Amino acid sequence: MITHHNHVFCLSTACTSYVFRVEEAGHLEHLHYGKRLCLGTDGASAMTQRHSSLPSATIAYSPGTPNLSMELLRGEISTLGKGDFGDPFIDLEFSDGSRTCDFLFDSWEILNEKPMNKELPCALSPGQARGNTLRIRMKEANGRKLVLYLYYTVYEDCDVILRSTRLENHGTEPVIVRRLLSSQIDFDDSDYIFTNFHGSWTSEMHKSMTPCTGKTLVSETRLGFSSNRSNPFVMLSRPCCTETSGEVYGSNLIYSGNHRECAQSGELSRLRFSTGIQPEGFSWLLKPKDRFTAPEAVLSFSSEGFGRLSRNYHDFIRNYILRGIWAHRPRPVLINSWEAAYFDFDEEKLLHLAGAAHDAGIELFVLDDGWFGKRKNTKTSMGDWVCNYEKLPHGIEGLSARIHNMGMQFGIWVEPEAVSVDSDLFRAHPDWSLAVPGQPNSEGRNTRLLDFCNPEVIDYLYHALCRVFSCGVDYVKWDMNRGISDCYSPFLPKEQQGETGHRFLLGLYSLLKRLTDRFPDILFESCASGGNRADLGMLCYMPQFWASDNSDALCRQQIQTNYSYGYPLSVLGCHVSSIPNHQTLRETPIATRYEVAAFGILGYELDICRLRADELEDIQEQIRHYKKLRNWIMDADLYRIQTGENGHYCLMEVSKDQLTGAVMTLQELLQPGSPIRILKTRGLKDNALYHLVSRPAMMNVKPMKGRFASLSSDDPAAGFVRMPRETEDYTLYGDLLNHGGIRLKSDFNGHNLDEDTRYYIDYSTRFYDIELVKE
Ligand code: DGJ
Repeated sequence: MITHHNHVFCLSTACTSYVFRVEEAGHLEHLHYGKRLCLGTDGASAMTQRHSSLPSATIAYSPGTPNLSMELLRGEISTLGKGDFGDPFIDLEFSDGSRTCDFLFDSWEILNEKPMNKELPCALSPGQARGNTLRIRMKEANGRKLVLYLYYTVYEDCDVILRSTRLENHGTEPVIVRRLLSSQIDFDDSDYIFTNFHGSWTSEMHKSMTPCTGKTLVSETRLGFSSNRSNPFVMLSRPCCTETSGEVYGSNLIYSGNHRECAQSGELSRLRFSTGIQPEGFSWLLKPKDRFTAPEAVLSFSSEGFGRLSRNYHDFIRNYILRGIWAHRPRPVLINSWEAAYFDFDEEKLLHLAGAAHDAGIELFVLDDGWFGKRKNTKTSMGDWVCNYEKLPHGIEGLSARIHNMGMQFGIWVEPEAVSVDSDLFRAHPDWSLAVPGQPNSEGRNTRLLDFCNPEVIDYLYHALCRVFSCGVDYVKWDMNRGISDCYSPFLPKEQQGETGHRFLLGLYSLLKRLTDRFPDILFESCASGGNRADLGMLCYMPQFWASDNSDALCRQQIQTNYSYGYPLSVLGCHVSSIPNHQTLRETPIATRYEVAAFGILGYELDICRLRADELEDIQEQIRHYKKLRNWIMDADLYRIQTGENGHYCLMEVSKDQLTGAVMTLQELLQPGSPIRILKTRGLKDNALYHLVSRPAMMNVKPMKGRFASLSSDDPAAGFVRMPRETEDYTLYGDLLNHGGIRLKSDFNGHNLDEDTRYYIDYSTRFYDIELVKE
């Protein structure tokens, strides 16, 4: 709901309020963002900043307002040059060389429908009655003829406020936009913890928590895409915040390029929290009559800890970011050829793999890299999106038909933004890639990047990819394996080179829009060397992303848990791979690999033809289990019960109707003499009766062979000795499960190995299915 009274604007969601007003000189003063409150008649005046005299060395805004300092005003936006020395929201360079500007309130309007930007990905409209978007119009105060629009859209159901910004040049002179952010919140104090998620290839989403007081904290990327170095999702929490209690704010950007999130502690210990396009390396020539729109920022607040904040984002993403027929549809279980074959395959080998996968219950066969041009390693052919007939004599169409005949769907990998110098495309169009004319070029994974600022390139790719996707393709993995170097577009004039990074993204988005419109049934998965483009921008076109090239179950558990702060697990591609794991050489049980993947979108990425019969049986059982799970888990509520403390993880999903639940636990390393294990759930109905049962699975107890009589009759030559895991089976009320907890069977302690023992050793997981029996 949006209300307005005497130039005080109040945006309310189910549990939060966002309030600001027009102060006497015309700036927008931020009053409150947090728990929902009722302003009453005196509320706005009580929250207004008092200006009785200014501290020494602060700047008075104007002679007529001696007690107003831009540095002390909590602004909805901030500019340069009028006494605000903090991180600016907007930075413009005028033709006279000046960078001072000042925007004042002009008018406001409540829009019934949120505007949908045609060039940038954006959230769907919440469709609430009585108008869901507030548009504020501001004018530059010193005759520059610039108009700034601030948009605020209210998503009542998931406690989200969406902000975005548009600048229009109504003058006759061009202006250089050096920075135009998406959102800024000024807080009264800086007693907050800034949490960001950083990493690198195969090591995505490390959580870092830093106190804000006395410093400027920045989470940013300059790679050209949102990147694994720093995900655009960040949080700002009070120091005492936990999973279930305390205040926390979140921010994410609907954008896939360079971004910057900043928490800056300033004058009087105030804190400015802002997000937007990374200003470093960016500039935009705003010609007369032109407009520039910044990406949308997704803000949310929870007074019930990190868990609730995450669920706000999960609901928002599922309801307002994902779109198309796959948004809420359970995804097929896939097998991907990459770790099974890399570049070394032919049609026969692929059909073998697909056949064995189909027998195990897998539904979609994905042909990864290596199928096009003369591709046999990373050195060649990127850009030549035509089949390699030496490997695949019947073409993509023939292979796809054979896979379809088996009763499976067929998917294919592409990396459209890259081009190899050794490719027909590069030979035909050397000026179609990003490169500084006359300068040597730096390559990444032996490729350059195509100039996505050039509409001819986009058109070419559209037609080339349409030809591929028309060959019976049900799924596409869209990869991108390098950052932007040599950032120069041969298509753009020299004074617009600062636009290259952003225009590259606009080109990508326009291509994705055309392709997803043309192929609405294809399931797209975004990938960028794993999680280099795990962001809301890509999720507007593709309902899932490949979370990491690290498929080791232990590493994945940490990576996936940390993604879950800002993204629902139901958008993460999670695969069971072979052992020793290809990234870590670690050997984890097959039950662990499955149970770590099962809360995400399940896939297999291994040479299934080489598995033992008992492993194949396990996989069949896993897929049977997953096919039930996936029907409700797509839209479920996630509870993080343990997040890696002392190597323990425990995650729980509960269906929205609270009829079904599932808990998975993981232990990194066994510590003898550990405390008694208690399983306590969250999110179940207190007074309903539930049935909880552990997922049956076999474990390898080979190390114990010889010590226990029950194991001695096994085949001595076998590399494994199988024994069923312990069973837990209870029918209990939700209040007992949520607040009392189940004492699990006792851990193996060196002496016991029977059905009452929990053989919960290094890298073990357990999985419990829960169903409501009676209310
Ligand atoms: C990087 C991806 O993340 C991998 O999954 C795989 O598709 C390779 N590219 C193929 O080159």
